[in-house]
Amino acid sequence: MTSPGGRYSFDPGSPALRADPYPAFRKLRETEPMHWSDLGYWVASRYEDVRAVLMDRDGFGQGDFIGNIRMFYAPDFDVLGQSSYRWLSEVFVMQDPPQHTRVRALVTGALNARRVRDMAPRVQEITDHLIDVFMARGGCDLISDFAYRLPVMVMCDMLGIDQDDSRLPEIINAIAQSFIVFEPRTLSEAELTLANGEMDKLEAFFTDLFERRRREPRNDLSTALVEAGDGADALSTHELTTAVIGLFGAGFETTAHMLGNGMLTLHRHPEQWRQLRADPEGLAESTTDEVLRYETSLVATYRTAFADKIVGGVPVRKDQRVLTLIGAANRDPDTFTDPERFDITRQAARHMSFGGGIHFCAGAELARLEGRIAFSTLARRLPNMELDTASPGWREGFLFRGLSSLQARW
Ligand code: HEM
Repeated sequence: MTSPGGRYSFDPGSPALRADPYPAFRKLRETEPMHWSDLGYWVASRYEDVRAVLMDRDGFGQGDFIGNIRMFYAPDFDVLGQSSYRWLSEVFVMQDPPQHTRVRALVTGALNARRVRDMAPRVQEITDHLIDVFMARGGCDLISDFAYRLPVMVMCDMLGIDQDDSRLPEIINAIAQSFIVFEPRTLSEAELTLANGEMDKLEAFFTDLFERRRREPRNDLSTALVEAGDGADALSTHELTTAVIGLFGAGFETTAHMLGNGMLTLHRHPEQWRQLRADPEGLAESTTDEVLRYETSLVATYRTAFADKIVGGVPVRKDQRVLTLIGAANRDPDTFTDPERFDITRQAARHMSFGGGIHFCAGAELARLEGRIAFSTLARRLPNMELDTASPGWREGFLFRGLSSLQARW
């Protein structure tokens, strides 16, 4: 986007960014690493600046939610009257301590390294089952038949949601449609109406799940969350519903895109796919981190300054917002050697794709486990897979970067 004065102004709604954001990221990093967008916020693109903002818990946080959203609308816009924005205002990723701390502790307890390790055999079983279903067909849509199904099944298992629940496809779609409220821009009336309706559906589905678990406890995370804390500390059904919509969505939307983006990138670099096929187990871990670095599925996040701060030599005033471009940080040559090269043997774990600081991704271990198992199993079981890499269909939206479909044959 170019402003009336002819100056470049970052616009996350630009179609060019959807097709390939990396040329714009590079230009920003090289020419204006702390860039002021006409949309009214700073855009940080260097690794050190992105990291500094996300790690500085005293200097940056979520701040005044209503004010931050009104920035994109009229000053009297009824933010909390929109169910999708009301949900966003209450979900813990958008909150500051102490509210954030209380819910995060519950969720990270459920996703600690030991529990995730124990999930490995089940994740392998689901992966093999999904491949068994389409193997004999000689082809599939890797996004709908695999990349979405794997993390959805893992999240359903974890929360105790019945895989055969006829409402599930609608719930998955509702996540995709309502998570548009994370986008740092004005939504059209149609987008907002759709997001609100889909959020209402999600709230009804998860409220029903928690009410059933209160009546009939089971051995699953939903029951554990209902039972966690006691007396004044226990979470209300509304608080649980809000948190779990976030957890469920974060648990599959980003992971599905990691798997899709990873397979696309591996096939755009056939020598890397060949290398993975030659040693699927040995290279599974570094492949997953390199995919996360090179083609992250969460391209950016944002923070509000709690006080006047200096970032990358630029003064950021109290209450101003900073969009931290994770995707740009991941290709910063000051941090990664030859960053535009996709190299599955690289030790890339320093990437910023799981964020940093107090909001560091609660599901990072699980996402890495799913990546390791999925990439190695596909390379082992479908080594002759060919993908239509020429014109992949990138989904709408800027923050969540992923494909709507990816045809595969073998
Ligand atoms: C490739 C997959 C994933 C990516 C790229 C990713 C990325 C991220 C990032 C960047 C954040 C920080 C957001 C911020 O600071 O504003 C985050 C937070 C979070 N992620 Fe993930 N995530 C992934 C998978 C998962 C999975 C599998 C789960 C759960 C099962 C999960 C649950 C969460 C939760 C609950 C938070 C909020 C943490 C907090 O606010 O304290 N994520 N994720």
